[in-house]
Amino acid sequence: MTQDELKTLVGQAALHYVVPGSIVGVGTGSTVDKFIDALAASGIAIKGAVSSSLRSTERLQALGITVLDAGEVQSLPVYIDGADEIDHAGHMIKGGGAALTREKIVADLADRFICIADESKLVSLLGKFPLPVEVIPMAAAQIARRFEAIGARAVLRAGCITDNGCQILDVHGLQIAEPIAFETDVNQWPGVVTVGLFARKPASVCLLGTAEGVKTISF
Ligand code: A5P
Repeated sequence: MTQDELKTLVGQAALHYVVPGSIVGVGTGSTVDKFIDALAASGIAIKGAVSSSLRSTERLQALGITVLDAGEVQSLPVYIDGADEIDHAGHMIKGGGAALTREKIVADLADRFICIADESKLVSLLGKFPLPVEVIPMAAAQIARRFEAIGARAVLRAGCITDNGCQILDVHGLQIAEPIAFETDVNQWPGVVTVGLFARKPASVCLLGTAEGVKTISF
């Protein structure tokens, strides 16, 4: 199966976690696009969705799904999103699509984070995928120096301004052995808006697309 077919498979499998009549938290990315398409085609009646990006909002609305503001809801039963890497404890690197801040906000509203990913995303140690960090532009160089000081290399994502008007540093050369501690630490650096480590609140379930079908991993 191609990577695209695996994404379609897990996008479809995620429908099982959608609570009819509820509001669904929706992430961002090519795998989530498959979920949005499956949701629209499924006929499952939902009140609407809270979206993590302009990209997903446009896709949801184009398919007739109502999009609510995060501020209008107090909680969500599920948040469904992809990942750039996920480890065996459900800790994730996210932000390849630059939507990490809104993703973290919407994920925080949800009781359960359902991660949908093809099998290439499952890793033993996080960090091969460059860690996205959203930063206030005036702090970008200062934060890059902090990463250099710990032996990593932060590269400003060219031409990228986030939905929040900020910039992204992609941090290469990390081996994140203690994701919760590292997320907590980088969160404290002045000028960091969001670190693309989702470890303090990890995935609850990962639906992994494999050649043998969808593998469900519960954390
Ligand atoms: C978006 O900012 C990211 O966090 C995505 O969830 C992640 O990049 C996965 O994207 P794909 O489903 O396109 O691989």
